Amino acid sequence: MEPLDTGLGVIELLTENPSICAIVVDQKGTVVSVNSTYLRVLQKSKEEVVGKYIGDVTPNTRTLVVLRTGKGVVGYDWSINGYNMIACALPLISNQTVVGCFAFSLFMDIWDAKDLVENLMFELNSYRNEVRNLYSAHYTFASIIGSSPKMQNVKFLAQQAALHSSTTVLITGESGTGKELFAHAIHNCSQRSRLPFVRVNCAAIPESLLEAELFGYVEGAYTGARKGGNLGKFELANGGTVFLDEIGEMPLSMQSKLLVVLQEKEFEKLGGSRPVRVNVRVTAATNCDLEAKVKQNGFREDLYYRLNVLRLEIPPLRERREDIPELVYHFIDKLNARLKTKVNEISTRAMQMLSNYHWPGNVRELENTLERAMILADMQGGNILEPSHLPLPHDNRNGTFPNGNAFQDGDAHRTLKTALEEFEKEYIANTLKNTGYDKEKAAKALGIDVSWLYKKLKKHNITARAN
Ligand SMILES: Nc1ncnc2c1ncn2[C@@H]1O[C@H](COP(=O)(O)OP(=O)(O)OP(=O)(O)O)[C@@H](O)[C@H]1O
Ligand SMILES: [Mg+2]
Repeated sequence: MEPLDTGLGVIELLTENPSICAIVVDQKGTVVSVNSTYLRVLQKSKEEVVGKYIGDVTPNTRTLVVLRTGKGVVGYDWSINGYNMIACALPLISNQTVVGCFAFSLFMDIWDAKDLVENLMFELNSYRNEVRNLYSAHYTFASIIGSSPKMQNVKFLAQQAALHSSTTVLITGESGTGKELFAHAIHNCSQRSRLPFVRVNCAAIPESLLEAELFGYVEGAYTGARKGGNLGKFELANGGTVFLDEIGEMPLSMQSKLLVVLQEKEFEKLGGSRPVRVNVRVTAATNCDLEAKVKQNGFREDLYYRLNVLRLEIPPLRERREDIPELVYHFIDKLNARLKTKVNEISTRAMQMLSNYHWPGNVRELENTLERAMILADMQGGNILEPSHLPLPHDNRNGTFPNGNAFQDGDAHRTLKTALEEFEKEYIANTLKNTGYDKEKAAKALGIDVSWLYKKLKKHNITARAN
């Protein structure tokens, strides 16, 4: 090797480096050469080390293992005479035979660096666990109850989708049918299950923030942008799944950007100049009629086709009433555990009522109805669900208000108008609750316009949010 202008060869410069201890032993473990830094650490002269058996010089040496196995040991802790170091011992091989071993260790400040790295790794791992928890899918196909032929069909199709881990899936269905459950289950059952599942609620993020939320931004991208920039959901989900919930609400400007990402599999961060490549599966869900939205120019046709590669249509509950008993028993168990109630039965009449109702809020409404019924039954000291616990509107025929209360004596004197108004108020309040206080969904479920719903809320003085 060429000497540098110090007059020393590169090898000498390396081996005489004051931060490195270096030693070479031959096949038998006899020290062939040692650098002066190592001699200083050993507090020995060259004559006391060279030509001696390494096991006698440094009893804890790893060089003998390397000579025996022919395999290098890299990055182990090495402490000698009070010095803490990180060491490597590598075999010297000639004609496929181990002819010796070269060991070197870096020390002093490096140890601090190791502490630092260890601390950082600890921190990184805690964050990793937190992110994994935050961005993980909680449901599997086993959590999706329903063995009606319709549900079996959708589940089968969803399981097929899970197997094709890069296929885009579009999940449609009325509010509360279980679209989110399916998105989770598909991720959990796919090859991507160990990687993140990141949900983005396209309806909940203001248009101005959606791009940064999806694709991230670089430092200084805009006033108020976080130092060091920010990862977008697509980057966070790399290797896993991005679940674009309420995709029908995505603003048109973002739709064009999303289309490019789906086609090119890359994007640019806000304010960034380099494309970022990601490998994610996109699952999208909506309860709105996307085809109609396309016709009204509210949704890009090309994006619709790009998303609609594999379509899962979750049937409304009223079209698979045979699932209701199974769901009821499932929720009774689930809610007993959560509410600490002891409901263990449901009367035939109550089950009939649940099976006959048309469930505009679907499974979510069924779950909420049961929750309320179970609390009521429990408050009355009972453990059997009866029709009187069920706040179902059509139950009026049987002498109860939608809130589940039986008619009082004085009710007979009530005018039809008052009774209807009371019914309307309860019905709207229930629907709002069952649609998660989402006015658009509630209006849709009620079959009325949102502006009309607002008028009714005002008229009946109904609080339009969860307390
Ligand atoms: N098949 C099912 N088995 C068990 N629970 C279900 C099922 N379907 C829905 N649920 C329950 O109903 C609730 C609503 O489901 P989910 O959030 O998936 O509905 P969604 O279709 O996404 O509704 P939205 O359009 O309003 O967002 C869930 O919390 C879940 O507990
Ligand atoms: Mg949903």
